[in-house]
Amino acid sequence: MTNPETQLSEFANSGVGRQWERETAMRVMTAYIAHELNHPLGTIINVANMLSRRLSGPVVSPKDIGEHVESIKAEAIRATSIIRHMRMLTEHKPTARTSVSLVEACSDTIARVASLAKAKQVKLRFVSRAARPKVYGVKELLETALYNLVINSIAAVDNPGITRPRVIVCIAVQDTNWTTIQVLDNGIGVPEAIRDKVFEPFVTTRADGAGLGLAIASDIIRWHHGRISNRPCKSGTCMEIVLPRE
Ligand SMILES: Nc1ncnc2c1ncn2[C@@H]1O[C@H](COP(=O)(O)OP(=O)(O)OP(=O)(O)O)[C@@H](O)[C@H]1O
Ligand SMILES: [Mg+2]
Repeated sequence: MTNPETQLSEFANSGVGRQWERETAMRVMTAYIAHELNHPLGTIINVANMLSRRLSGPVVSPKDIGEHVESIKAEAIRATSIIRHMRMLTEHKPTARTSVSLVEACSDTIARVASLAKAKQVKLRFVSRAARPKVYGVKELLETALYNLVINSIAAVDNPGITRPRVIVCIAVQDTNWTTIQVLDNGIGVPEAIRDKVFEPFVTTRADGAGLGLAIASDIIRWHHGRISNRPCKSGTCMEIVLPRE
């Protein structure tokens, strides 16, 4: 009798197995794209609403309008790049990797979530303990991973029991080969029941959550030959990304 592992491998190599694999990849890609498109689309709606409020007000400066239009354009471009990059990630397509400055990737991500943090009165800080750390990869993808971690932290500290909500993004050089990025918060912490499976798709404790943010982040970091983990800490949460240095 063939053992289960051999059966599995025979199935994977069969026509039906390959078709099943393709369909699964397609389903994952669709879920990932839908999840990530929500971020730029949400920003576009907010900025467009702000713009129409300004336009109906008494004084409108062309510079102010120009800035809002630029920000709508930037988010629309981000949306198209998300579709391209998510396809690449799930279809394992080769792509042009470049030298990415982690300070830039972190600062740009923080700039994108700054207004949300401000609205929720969350203190958001960025600390870099490394001199110009660089990795070889795709900046937009790394920013997507970071964005999901920071958004989770903001949600975790957005709780009446937390008096001074704060989120810190910290870059440090681990050794000659590896750089770490930690996203730390003093929030409610990852619930015990899901601690071992937070990086699996569709695991969520949030009523409005899809349970995809950490699965996407984990796939992106793996694609960059790095590791992501939920580090044990006394209180709050510490998500850690470890990436090979360029
Ligand atoms: N910083 C954090 N503090 C506390 N719990 C967290 C934190 N980050 C993640 N979690 C827990 O892990 C779960 C999975 O996170 P994940 O980002 O994958 O999905 P989600 O945030 O629920 O939904 P979404 O798909 O919109 O991101 C969350 O529902 C939450 O329970
Ligand atoms: Mg999330």
